[in-house]
Amino acid sequence: MYKFLFLALISLTSLNAEEVKGEMAVPYIAYEIKMGEHFDTIQAQCLMCHSFGYIINQGPQSKAFWEGKVKKMEDAFGMDISKDDATSVVDYLFKHYGNDQVK
Ligand code: HEC
Repeated sequence: MYKFLFLALISLTSLNAEEVKGEMAVPYIAYEIKMGEHFDTIQAQCLMCHSFGYIINQGPQSKAFWEGKVKKMEDAFGMDISKDDATSVVDYLFKHYGNDQVK
């Protein structure tokens, strides 16, 4: 009985595999993490809750945008961060993922 089920399962599986003929594009998203001054602070302060993807999916942004995000993490999600570390994080983000606009 089990042998039969096993064979039935195998044949069904291979049938399905052969049915997929069209091209399949699997999206590949590379998160480029730029090493630099204060990256250690990002690692310590941000990556405990979510991946780096959350950060760089935003695209290049202004300094005010990054300040706003750090504040949001504090206000909305209870991130505990010192003023100095918050400044370091914003400096890092603006330097590597900034758009040259302060506001
Ligand atoms: C206490 C947990 C926590 C910490 C620490 C944290 N985040 Fe977040 N972050 C979140 C949550 C929760 C979300 C929203 C996830 C969702 O919406 O699915 C988020 C989302 C984001 C987003 C996506 C945009 C948005 O507005 O939701 C960015 C950008 C971001 N975080 C940046 C940071 C940065 C930079 C740091 C470090 C300074 C940080 N986060 C630290 C919890 C945290």
